[in-house]
Amino acid sequence: MHYNNNKQIKLIFLGPPGAGKGTQTEIISEKYSIPAISTGAILRSAIKNQTELGKTAAKYVEAGELVPDDIIIGIMKERLAEDDCKNGYILDGFPRTTAQAIALDESGAEISLVINLAVDDDVIIRRMSGRRVCCTCGATYHIEYNPTEDNKTCPRCGGPLACRKDDEPSVVESRLKVYHEQTEPLIKYYEEKGILRTVIGQEKLEDTTALTLNVIENYLKG
Ligand code: AP5
Repeated sequence: MHYNNNKQIKLIFLGPPGAGKGTQTEIISEKYSIPAISTGAILRSAIKNQTELGKTAAKYVEAGELVPDDIIIGIMKERLAEDDCKNGYILDGFPRTTAQAIALDESGAEISLVINLAVDDDVIIRRMSGRRVCCTCGATYHIEYNPTEDNKTCPRCGGPLACRKDDEPSVVESRLKVYHEQTEPLIKYYEEKGILRTVIGQEKLEDTTALTLNVIENYLKG
């Protein structure tokens, strides 16, 4: 496979809650050896460790609301300045508002590709109840679409699997509403920059992965 070696992958995954952003991010990060940065994972770790950030974030995350822009932008500016981001990264869950997208542009990030994982709301609602997350390493599974042997133990680290607190149906409903109001406008924002590609995310997991890899390979070859 011939790649234009000067090309860095600075990739954003856009999409509603449960679209599969985290799942695809993990696969791409491993395949291309580039760091994956998930604002959701950063916040969940802060909540688990009861840091100041975690205490502030918990009330927003658990209600399905967005954490205020100034907090998130501050976290991401610091994270993206770290050494491991010099040769590219994948952003899962950031940016999520126009203010965050503008802050990212103003930081000089020069995003190369935005993949919009498109999944209908009714599929999301059905999916969320089956998601299981490892309490130790954060890996994500699904009791039907991406099962483990017993759906109780993480095959990667042996940690226990659990449902996410914000996957409760009433919270999922709020998260979808917030997505449509505040994050969906970013599709147009990146479309206008000519770097948006849409991948249908409601096929089988392996089909979504194949479509996603195809978009990245085309970008690298171009
Ligand atoms: P975050 O963790 O980012 O949640 P989210 O965007 O709502 O996305 P999810 O993690 O729920 O889903 P996903 O798209 O990663 O799907 P997954 O791969 O797990 O954010 C959580 C909260 O933190 C937010 O609500 C907010 O409060 C706060 N926050 C985070 N970032 C913020 C920001 N930038 N600004 C402000 N606040 C912020 O897949 C879902 C399930 O489906 C899994 O079980 C998986 O196995 C399965 N699956 C995946 N793909 C497929 C497929 N193709 N077919 C069948 N099943 C599939």
